[in-house]
Amino acid sequence: MKYSNLLDRSLAVPFAIVASASVVACTSTGPQSPEQGAAAAEVSYTNDIRPIVSNYCATCHHGDDPDGDFVLDTYEDVRGMVESGELLARINDERDPMPPAGMMSQRQRDLFRAWQDGGYLNVGDPAFAPEHEPFEPPLITPVDVTKHGFDLLERLQGHWVGKMNLMGQDMPWFAWDYRAIAPSHVHAIFEGGTLGNLFTSFFVADLRGTRTIMARNGGLLNGIYRTSYFVLDRVQKNGKSTEYRLVDAYGGEGIMWMNLAFTGESLVFTSHTSRLGLAGPPKRHMRFEGRRMHPELARSAAKAVGFPALDAAYDFADGLPLPDWGAGVPVTSYSYIWEDKDLSVLSLAKLCGDPIRIDQMPYLATLRVEFERGARLRDMPMEIYLSRSPLTAADGKFLMRHGYPSTATFDGVLMFSRLTACETEMTFTYLHPGTYYVTAVCDKNGDGYPSAGDLSHKSVKIEVLPRSAGEVRLPAVDVQN
Ligand code: HEC
Repeated sequence: MKYSNLLDRSLAVPFAIVASASVVACTSTGPQSPEQGAAAAEVSYTNDIRPIVSNYCATCHHGDDPDGDFVLDTYEDVRGMVESGELLARINDERDPMPPAGMMSQRQRDLFRAWQDGGYLNVGDPAFAPEHEPFEPPLITPVDVTKHGFDLLERLQGHWVGKMNLMGQDMPWFAWDYRAIAPSHVHAIFEGGTLGNLFTSFFVADLRGTRTIMARNGGLLNGIYRTSYFVLDRVQKNGKSTEYRLVDAYGGEGIMWMNLAFTGESLVFTSHTSRLGLAGPPKRHMRFEGRRMHPELARSAAKAVGFPALDAAYDFADGLPLPDWGAGVPVTSYSYIWEDKDLSVLSLAKLCGDPIRIDQMPYLATLRVEFERGARLRDMPMEIYLSRSPLTAADGKFLMRHGYPSTATFDGVLMFSRLTACETEMTFTYLHPGTYYVTAVCDKNGDGYPSAGDLSHKSVKIEVLPRSAGEVRLPAVDVQN
């Protein structure tokens, strides 16, 4: 499915991993439960609200002499009633519900709330689709890294541990593990689990004759594949910190941009997005603030791949291919997008014309982790941790202090994925080769962290080789903490 059909989806990668601690039933729901669907900010008038209104309300609130003296015929009608608070009040009023015959299902009622929370999306409805102005890309002058700015790649290396704010949501602990994967290419991924992943890699490229640094940022979220390409257009000193800004390599700063500010051993990494120009000027999407830890991980990767060198990892002499977003949609960004829940990452990359595909990324590996869920754990959220040291003692219990793993132990976590759809396996893609300890945790108390009350097993040590497709089968998750 092309972008034109995805216009009313949130392209903003909402990883609500911490908030999605609800327990779902495996038997009654598919990989995406209705509750999760309703919670996602992608509820639109056309796809979700209008069908309910037609089925449950239109018989009475329609025509010349409507019940209650109002109609629910158009987007504006329905939105007005939700905004006034009356609609939500009445559909949730057990004693005097709308429709009068009886309350609708929880899911149907939640959809109205989610539609409100998501900002009353109506794009996707041909009647309300915004007029598409032709887009004239701005002139972008990439930084010539043969003169300055190349040190961004060196500075970026490290296991950055800190806190994250993603779309207004705070995550008190987050980490990016940036390591070299080629002489002029540094990469990190957040493998989120059920919802999807988010990666960013930075590399030297020849872009229309300038040797510069570009970034490839994207992920696979709820079956939507997206990668966007950025280019370094500014390096500046700001007191003690050095800031590097990368803008959309086609649409420039008016579409989206990211900024990395390094001060000593700390990094503030922000990004601003605009739903590809549909939602006004870019607004803050992410702010990560961390400090560099465990530099030996990046150091050994650099040694293994011959990093750093000023060679171009990719050559885009004529720019990147312009993505095809479908008929009538003006392209505003080097963003390659496709949706199909049943296709592999590689097929999706090919369909949307992504100029760099996962199989063309150097050095990285995949790792499939399998585990068993007994009947007791079938519906429970699970977390999979990859860490540089074991999270548990030999008896399978967490190395804890005051009910949580000690800071020193937890700061060694390199990947943290949350599985809420009753999976019994997951595959880590774009994974740095190296030594990991793998720990599956049944998050019984639902706080999103390994802690007292949760179930675990003895952390399993594995060696991930470059370009390998590894597999590990974990022992039963049955040690009570
Ligand atoms: C069988 C006819 C019927 C159906 C179906 C129906 N309504 Fe109503 N509705 C009425 C009548 C009659 C009134 C006015 C009396 C009242 O408020 O109970 C009303 C009143 C309301 C009000 C209160 C308006 C006010 O000014 O206080 C809201 C809000 C409302 N309906 C929303 C809905 C929604 C949303 C649906 C569909 C989910 C729906 N109704 C389906 C008959 C219906």
